[in-house]
Amino acid sequence: MTVYQATASAPVNIACIKYWGKRDTKLILPTNSSLSVTLDQDHLRSTTTSRADPSFDKDRLWLNGVEEEIKDGGRLATCIKEMRALRKQLEEQDPSLPKIAAFPVHIASHNNFPTAAGLASSASGFAALVASLSALYQLPADASRLSLIARQGSGSACRSLFGGFVAWQMGERADGSDSYAVEVAPREHWPDIHALICVVNDEKKGTSSTSGMQRTVETSPLLQHRIQHVVPQRMAAISEAIRARDFDAFARITMADSNQFHAVALDTEPPIFYMNDVSRAIIALIVEYNRVAVANGGKLKAAYTYDAGPNAVIYAPKENIKEIVELIVKYFPQAEKFKDPFGLFGAAGVQPQVIPGFNEAVAKPYGVGAVKSLIHTRVGDGPRTLSAEDSLLGSDGLPK
Ligand code: DP6
Repeated sequence: MTVYQATASAPVNIACIKYWGKRDTKLILPTNSSLSVTLDQDHLRSTTTSRADPSFDKDRLWLNGVEEEIKDGGRLATCIKEMRALRKQLEEQDPSLPKIAAFPVHIASHNNFPTAAGLASSASGFAALVASLSALYQLPADASRLSLIARQGSGSACRSLFGGFVAWQMGERADGSDSYAVEVAPREHWPDIHALICVVNDEKKGTSSTSGMQRTVETSPLLQHRIQHVVPQRMAAISEAIRARDFDAFARITMADSNQFHAVALDTEPPIFYMNDVSRAIIALIVEYNRVAVANGGKLKAAYTYDAGPNAVIYAPKENIKEIVELIVKYFPQAEKFKDPFGLFGAAGVQPQVIPGFNEAVAKPYGVGAVKSLIHTRVGDGPRTLSAEDSLLGSDGLPK
């Protein structure tokens, strides 16, 4: 008997121009366009297996081995329904195709990074879901078409359907048909962009993106200024910086947009704080690191950005990452040895130090654990279809 099954993996993306605000909460249509860098799946990814089988009772989904409820009309149900509808269309056009759209599906998904690390898993998760269903259903749909569906799972997920540098065009239509992701440049255009993720210790449970951004839309006057007068110019300018591989311009825009996103969070009633003292200390270190570079006649060497939590993502050309790790470790000693996927350090490991001319008084040193871990990665490719050996479902149709 034929087994109808497919496995795919999808990457995490971290925005340089932030998505924050919806004009339609059901369809997940944003109040502004956004732009992100896709990170390398060799380091961070979600993997998903989907199987369609007439013997299954109903659609079921497991995340990291734990079953999640697929609520009627919820985000998961919507994505599955939309993918099924595309398959149905195909079956109607070509009656020789097996009628698998009618079968219930079992879906198992796994993140290779701890959810507790506070890294956005919804983006890679919904992108992997859509990519695996697309492979299962053998859809001819391109990545932008699939991004329309991933968007309805989680807005930022639409950008994880592409590798490299990706824009989510907000669109204008009420039905959302023009609100999808497009590639600005593939990773091969600028492979030198690396990222250092500083996982910051976070005790308290913060405000979710979904509810936080809705409160911002309802109460922040600054958001109106941002969406009308700031983001359109920045989208154009950062796209141009990427095309020209101009890191200085890329870094300035990225940091300014992170700052403004956190400013509109603060402008929300009641105010929302995502960054903490450790986040702000990392900003001070990157600002000083860049100041020294510019004082020596050079250009910006690193850019920080923060999402809806205290973790820092530092973008930099590969050649600067060694200095940046040494800098961060000097102020934030690590309990564990730095995982060095690009072999920057020899057997001696990281030697904590600052570059010559650095004003060490810009931040106070913290104890072990303030920054829990450091992840070095780089710009990566889009979703991958994997082989049968990578399946997360056993022959019984349940998670392995
Ligand atoms: C700060 O995509 O998680 O990371 O659409 O409600 O699921 P929903 O929100 P989500 O928001 C991401 C917000 C952000 C900025 C960004 O990724 O652009």
